[in-house]
Amino acid sequence: MSIVTTKEMFEKAAKGGYAIGAFNINNMEIIQGITEACKELNSPVILQVSSSARKYAHPKYLLNMIKAAEEETGIPIAIHLDHGADFEICKACVDDGFTSVMIDASKYSFEENVELTRRVVDYAHERGVVVEAELGKLAGVEDDVNVSDADSCYTDPDQAHEFVERTGCDSLAIAIGTSHGAYKFKGEPKLRFDILDKVTALMPGYPIVLHGASSVSQEDVAKCNKYGGDLPGARGVTESLLREAARHGVCKINMDTDIRIAMTAAIREEFVENPSSFDPRKYLGSAREAVKELVKHKIIDVLGSDNKI
Ligand code: G3H
Ligand code: 13P
Ligand code: ZN
Repeated sequence: MSIVTTKEMFEKAAKGGYAIGAFNINNMEIIQGITEACKELNSPVILQVSSSARKYAHPKYLLNMIKAAEEETGIPIAIHLDHGADFEICKACVDDGFTSVMIDASKYSFEENVELTRRVVDYAHERGVVVEAELGKLAGVEDDVNVSDADSCYTDPDQAHEFVERTGCDSLAIAIGTSHGAYKFKGEPKLRFDILDKVTALMPGYPIVLHGASSVSQEDVAKCNKYGGDLPGARGVTESLLREAARHGVCKINMDTDIRIAMTAAIREEFVENPSSFDPRKYLGSAREAVKELVKHKIIDVLGSDNKI
């Protein structure tokens, strides 16, 4: 297999009523945990890099570690820029060898979003790279984007249709009630399936993306808190809602927070249970194992992407 675009992954996912997991990566242990899980379960995967992750780990390190993971596991991997804030970062990632970029111009007006997305699409498509765009605003904190609850607004299905026609973007992130981070819902978790259904009725088979889709495992939160953490009231999207979203046309489900919490719980436990240990391979090894278990669970019980290679 190889480093691929998301095109074929999404076509198969849309037909099969399942979704591809898009996991944020920052370091070697995260990459290994995710890709080992995918190899065991025969699942394609999207490894996504935010601009701050790119800065943290250095583009060359990340890309070469991803290539090593691909050689080691043989699974199809798409390398995706998450929440590209401007043309320049998208261009840099296309030039570096990413197979997919997201231009997130959702904070701008509709016309400005169309214009910037179109510009990125033109550049990326000429080089065989696919583009994700975003319409509507998610509540919560995104990379370089702060959106308060009050400003959050759901995607308008007619606008989504017009946006895709005018920009030629290959997939679209829509706002139907999710948000980034560990504190998503104050009341019952809810998604606006009515909006999702209108979007997919207007664009049958078109790949829809769900950001802010971590479920915030209460078990992992409790483990963090037991071992000295402080995450009161952390709450995510129910897994059954995500499974339903996959059946309703969502082809890409983004998760970052879940990995962060699983790793933190594992490392906290390791530190408390083994106070005399100071070998990074011990606590980072536990964290890598936690990522692998989490991703296996997501593939089987949420995404349904196992045995889809
Ligand atoms: O949606 C944002 C992702 O969780 C990336 O976050 O910018 O802290 O890497 P980050
Ligand atoms: P979470 O914060 O819910 O993991 O969302 C991640 C995401 O959407 C990355 O783009
Ligand atoms: Zn996101």
